[in-house]
Amino acid sequence: MADRLFSGASPEKVAEALASLVDFQEEGMHIADLIWMVEDDLIPHLMRYELPSCQGLFNSPLEEGAAYGAEVALEWNQGVTNWQVSPGGATLEELCCKALCKLFGLGPDADGTVLYSGTYANQQAVYMALHHWAKKAGFDFSERGLAGFQDPSRLAVVVSADAHFSLKHAVRFLGLGEGALIQVPVDDKQRMDVGALKRILGELRGTRDVFCVVATVGTTSTGAVDPVGEIAEVCREEGAWLHADGAYGLAYMLVPEKTQLFEGLEKADTVAWDPHKQMAVPIPNSVLFARDRELFKPLALFSDYWNRVDAPGPNPGLKSIPSTRPFAALPLVCSIRHQGLTKLIERLRSPLEAIRGFYDILREHPDVDPLHEPDTGILCYRVKQEALDPGEVDRLQEHIYRTIQRKGKRIVSVTRLGGKPALRAVAISPEVTTRSLVNTLSEALMIAGAFR
Ligand SMILES: Cc1ncc(COP(=O)(O)O)c(C=O)c1O
Repeated sequence: MADRLFSGASPEKVAEALASLVDFQEEGMHIADLIWMVEDDLIPHLMRYELPSCQGLFNSPLEEGAAYGAEVALEWNQGVTNWQVSPGGATLEELCCKALCKLFGLGPDADGTVLYSGTYANQQAVYMALHHWAKKAGFDFSERGLAGFQDPSRLAVVVSADAHFSLKHAVRFLGLGEGALIQVPVDDKQRMDVGALKRILGELRGTRDVFCVVATVGTTSTGAVDPVGEIAEVCREEGAWLHADGAYGLAYMLVPEKTQLFEGLEKADTVAWDPHKQMAVPIPNSVLFARDRELFKPLALFSDYWNRVDAPGPNPGLKSIPSTRPFAALPLVCSIRHQGLTKLIERLRSPLEAIRGFYDILREHPDVDPLHEPDTGILCYRVKQEALDPGEVDRLQEHIYRTIQRKGKRIVSVTRLGGKPALRAVAISPEVTTRSLVNTLSEALMIAGAFR
């Protein structure tokens, strides 16, 4: 088990092991027996994110300060909707959001709201963009919804071809449908092609209403950072809302060598961020920032018994829809305070350097094609074999992925780039080093050698 990421058991075996846990009975059980049951039946099948061979996921093991904050949040089981439910919790969340805005250089009027996931943050951003568009059209979206637009089928959200699928969820959930999502191709660095963006916006003029453009600052498949400053300029000319999806990538803005990639981020109307990815804090932990706190106003709903209009004290629950809210700000605050910014930045930098070192090795490697220069902590590559035809080379990547996955000792992931399968190495935790990435490559090459 020492070097295994998890037991390696099949889905059937895992379900078999867990069956007794969900065998709800009239009588309870002694806590010692319960602990024994969980440790024996469940823990072996959980994933160990702390191992250097965990190279395909966005999950990280907890940092010590984060673990302490999580313990306190758990012990007190605080909901942090408003002052009434937790004076300290609500106030800390508000202060934390303001401090994070400052950390990311988002401007004095910016604010944030803590959410359950990047998916919801993206959805709320598109919702806020719709509100803004409706306001320009002279009506209140809260009251009239999509029916307020003269022709809702004209509404469009423009994203890069590599945008996260949560944007698809967003347009589905908001009643716009997938037809509202228009993709812009990426350039050879896998970033949104701004020339193509301008061309597409020009083509859409007169037939579609592009109310929102999404820049992904750290794409899921390659970690590429779309040129957010240039996209902001295009949005300003078009009068479109700019949402920056930094669920994965935003943290790297804190690493000085990478800050320049995010130039212009402060011009975005909304920015999504997932500390529960590389910040080593418990899931869930996501934040949606807005350029101006006033932009959160459409989310404020008051009631007679809860979130009353005249209630005293801070009320984070008025900036997003969840009513009961976890005290996710505490582990994040504790982790940043415990490490200090210097150590935090070192921690974030380390996987970036691991991926960069890996890229330098792959560039010289005769049997591998790196598919892009890494902007952040992800690198996609393809294993080559001269003797194979192109279709077989495609199958080889999938075969390597599946074989590694089956063994349960390493995780690498697979994606499609330019329509072809590619292996995808992800470094999230500082445990992942160039050496551990090379070890995975060696295994991939061994599997390739035995292919056919
Ligand atoms: C760029 C990007 N946006 C959004 C998301 C969705 O975030 P979550 O998994 O927290 O819902 C992800 C998740 O990987 C992501 O990489």
